[in-house]
Amino acid sequence: MQGVDAAWLPDGAFRPIGTRRTLIRGSGPLVDTVHGEVAQACVRFGGNVSRDGSPGPYDLVLELTGDGRDSGDGGEAFTFERGDGRTTVTASGGPGLLYGFFHVVRLGDAAFRGTCERAYHRPELALRMLDHWDNVAVHPVMGQVERGYAGGSLFWADGRARAELLGRVRAYARLLAACGINAVAVNNVNVHEAEARLLTDRIGEVADIAGVLRPYGIRTHLSVTFAAPMVLGGLSTADPLDEGVREWWAETTSRVYEAIPDFGGYVVKADSEGQPGPFAYGRSHADGANMLAAALTASDSGYGGTVHWRAFVYDHRQDWRDRTTDRARAAYDHFVPLDGKFADNAVLQVKHGPMDFQVREPVSPLIGAMPRTRLAVELQATQEYTGQQRHVCWLGPMWSEVLRFRVDGVSPVGELARGGLVAVSNVGDDPFWTGHPLAQANLYTFGRLAWQPDADPGGILDEWIRLTFGVFEAFGAEPAAGLHAIMDGSWRTYEKYTAPLGVGFMVQPGHHYGPSVDGYEYSPWGTYHFADRDGVGVDRSCTTGTGYAGQYAKPWAEVYESPGTCPDELLLFFHHVSYGHILHSGKTVIQHMYDTHFEGVEEVEATMEVWASLADSVDPARHARVTERLEEQLRSAREWRDQINSYFFRKSGVPDAHGRRIH
Ligand code: GCU
Repeated sequence: MQGVDAAWLPDGAFRPIGTRRTLIRGSGPLVDTVHGEVAQACVRFGGNVSRDGSPGPYDLVLELTGDGRDSGDGGEAFTFERGDGRTTVTASGGPGLLYGFFHVVRLGDAAFRGTCERAYHRPELALRMLDHWDNVAVHPVMGQVERGYAGGSLFWADGRARAELLGRVRAYARLLAACGINAVAVNNVNVHEAEARLLTDRIGEVADIAGVLRPYGIRTHLSVTFAAPMVLGGLSTADPLDEGVREWWAETTSRVYEAIPDFGGYVVKADSEGQPGPFAYGRSHADGANMLAAALTASDSGYGGTVHWRAFVYDHRQDWRDRTTDRARAAYDHFVPLDGKFADNAVLQVKHGPMDFQVREPVSPLIGAMPRTRLAVELQATQEYTGQQRHVCWLGPMWSEVLRFRVDGVSPVGELARGGLVAVSNVGDDPFWTGHPLAQANLYTFGRLAWQPDADPGGILDEWIRLTFGVFEAFGAEPAAGLHAIMDGSWRTYEKYTAPLGVGFMVQPGHHYGPSVDGYEYSPWGTYHFADRDGVGVDRSCTTGTGYAGQYAKPWAEVYESPGTCPDELLLFFHHVSYGHILHSGKTVIQHMYDTHFEGVEEVEATMEVWASLADSVDPARHARVTERLEEQLRSAREWRDQINSYFFRKSGVPDAHGRRIH
């Protein structure tokens, strides 16, 4: 793996285990994986590992208990305890033993100190999934990885599965298992011609990838096109209620299971941004999803698969002159009437906000509004609208806010538990995995939050910093605290110098990098800010606006309805207000814009100073890569500051109270 960053699994992280005596009890492929890990660590550090139970003493016992059958926890739970100078991990399933092993890696030396009562660990959410928006063939506009900022695809190159890189995929699977991720979709939700065929004659390539992910407890999923029966099967329709179509899906799916016995299921983007779907046949999205759910159930694999049906359905051919259509309303309007109509193995996959992964959005009102449907929430680790992995933007605090959001006093995590948590992957074939080395923290944080959604994100960040950098001797408490501070605040810093107060977009059309206040203002995509000389923002109230605020349960419908109670950070998402409107903070909207944009740039400058001070504490290649990205971040932040401030100064004519230079 020379030349590839070890991310949060540097060799040194295995020293505490590799120098000790370990006993592994139990059998099965994942137990073999654990054994391989420990054995490798022992080769490096001089310890030893036994599987036959020869007399100890042992420092660490990793034991598969029971008969290995699923005891209601998917086999993913484990116990950890320490007493009599011995650390013991038990699990009833292979995945649990693997997660228990990585728990010990995370604890490091602390796992072998003092005593610790038996503690039971289990993932809160059964499905913790990454969706790769990877294309098999390079797409003329979107490239190899749609919205990918970390080079090419880990899985695909030159139009084929990258057989020669399966070593790299294995290293990836290991990283994912070490933060608790257990499912991966290997291709883009926009399924083009070559990718459509992964389902049929090219399933062998998917099976090869699945074979590499499996030893780390990861199930493989595939994005499929709803039109597959026509595109691949030569049928004249893809109508989900047509018998021939249903048979085609059932037969095709059974062949998928022959190739991949533990296949996870399908991901479908239908009737969305030009992708085909059931609307063409006058059918509902429940009809579409249930047809695929039936095909995935009919498989005699004994595992069963799940269809992840995306709720990202809206009119992308809107007329900007039409103020009655509101894209934010679309998912709720389409899907709430279908509550209770989806099959048990159909999961509705909902983006965390109603629009599209902006730096600030309210939590989607769909979450919590479909009690009889399994929902999965989709986050975006790839930083499409949050700096494209050229800017530091650690998303832990944003995701944690989503996961802690409460509707009527109830946490939607209960909702999530039924369908899981999904993130659009931010990984590619870049030597640092994520382009920006600090963007690795988003991937790690996603996995850890999916395991425990109410975990303190700051604690996860510390864990990531310690694992990733702690092996460098020069990386002591002070560098760790400095790095924590700049990353912890990076999402809010990014928010400060980009689109203000929840208004969203204002990005350059197409690639979505850099500012363009009116870039999407007169476009068909439904993403407007309605700035004029008097004010800015979208009126989504029930009284005078689009009625979107009314999609929320209590207390949020009332909170968002009035500018007097709406939180400042979402004001322009919900209301059109004058530039002189006074925020809860006491500032006017326009002064807030000026101030935050100046502050945002200053914060990036401070970040650069902190990073420069770490030059002797982290390895030179990583330091250089981050420095180069920070230079671009500063350039871009200044550009954002100047464009936003100038635009709104010229629109409003209101000068900056502090007389700073606005062009
Ligand atoms: C965004 C993104 C697209 C993507 C889409 C989706 O709009 O820009 O590239 O296809 O989301 O989630 O399907």
